[in-house]
Amino acid sequence: MTGTSTPKTYRVKSFGCQMNVYDGERMAELLAAKGISPAADGEDADLVVLNTCHIREKAAEKVYSDIGRLKKADGSKPLIAVAGCVAQAEGEEIMARAPAVSMVVGPQAYHRLPELLDKAVQGERATDTDMPANAKFDVLPQRRRSGPSAFLTVQEGCDKFCTYCVVPYTRGAEISRPYKDLIAEAEKLVENGAREITLLGQNVNAWSGDDAKGQNIGLDGLIRQLDRLPDLQRIRYTTSHPMDMSEGLIAAHGDVEKLMPYLHLPVQSGSDRVLKAMNRSHTAESYLRLLDRFRAVRPDIALSGDFIVGFPGETDAEFEETLRLVDAVRYAAAFSFKYSPRPGTPAAEMDRMIAAEVMDERLQRLQAAVNRDQLAFNQASVGRTCDVLVERKGKLPGQWLGKSPWLQSVHFIGDAAIGDLVTVELAEAGPNSLSGRLLQAAAA
Ligand code: 5AD
Ligand code: SF4
Repeated sequence: MTGTSTPKTYRVKSFGCQMNVYDGERMAELLAAKGISPAADGEDADLVVLNTCHIREKAAEKVYSDIGRLKKADGSKPLIAVAGCVAQAEGEEIMARAPAVSMVVGPQAYHRLPELLDKAVQGERATDTDMPANAKFDVLPQRRRSGPSAFLTVQEGCDKFCTYCVVPYTRGAEISRPYKDLIAEAEKLVENGAREITLLGQNVNAWSGDDAKGQNIGLDGLIRQLDRLPDLQRIRYTTSHPMDMSEGLIAAHGDVEKLMPYLHLPVQSGSDRVLKAMNRSHTAESYLRLLDRFRAVRPDIALSGDFIVGFPGETDAEFEETLRLVDAVRYAAAFSFKYSPRPGTPAAEMDRMIAAEVMDERLQRLQAAVNRDQLAFNQASVGRTCDVLVERKGKLPGQWLGKSPWLQSVHFIGDAAIGDLVTVELAEAGPNSLSGRLLQAAAA
């Protein structure tokens, strides 16, 4: 590959989870610090970063087709970097199969993107999929801008090794970012406009660190410190694992007002045999009892979960147990997926793969059950008065969109601005959003 001029504009396209969104923002900040500007909507970018997801099937194929389609208006190709979990898992193959890609950078190495870019401009292709724990956070530039709702990665990686999951391989071992770095980043985000911070981690509730007094604290301790930031109004966290749930975190839901009444706690299946084969280290019953403890301290808590249907060997009766668990919980939201064999994971080697039609049918039934409960949850909210954090303008004149404490999308018409926390009465419910009546605009 011959050299090229330094790019003037970039675009970062993030796929998959919220941590990829966070990583994408940090890569954008790195490129901005190098004097490269974001490409305007609809305009060509000189540099495109594909920040990829490897959690389910066809991820790699999608990356190759995206690479094939990337073209500027004059027919030339932009500089292309592949980042994220597909880069980590299949970096060498990408380099071999896609000559248009000049940079491959893994989720723990993206702080080196500027160096890779310097090489790419010289015409040199380079891959960096090292996994130095926490190294990137020490060199990333400070947070610059923030919308009203910001993500903050506090923990990365996973030691749980659920048998279907690639995360322990692509994101590496569980590590917690140091307490003081997190407080500093949160302060910066709030200074730059964030009113809500969602703490992110693959096992966010496994976070631990030493506070300013040198005392070891868990996620609840971190949340209690963030609660003291005057201009921060809401705190959320995701994703938790049932086995890392502490008494302290449950208690925080009862007495930290800024901690929102919402818990995303994946369960994956309602069958103990399947859970064991998944290496989940909890049972359906222990999961339900855990949720009871959250409900005891915060009766209005909205619950959400993740499910996999068609795990190898899952029988009809075992799938029915998942439906029974859904009936018992009455989720406010839930995400369900068809099992997808991931290369290198133990489940991919298991016998008794489930036929595609069976998986389709199970997914449809599960989603119908979840949609029913989601609509019921929204309908039960009608008449409630709550705060809504305004995130953006709606399509209609004077309309605004934001989130309720229970993470429902709420639209209303009235006098407001992005970043306001307004008081709304929830008036009408649909499956995916509610309309509200503005009772009180934000205090000026
Ligand atoms: N197949 C299908 N779904 C998966 N998930 C993780 N790995 C797989 C897989 N191999 C789902 C789980 C997890 C969510 C992020 O993605 O439900 O909680
Ligand atoms: Fe994957 Fe299980 Fe770790 Fe979640 S807990 S990231 S599903 S291995």
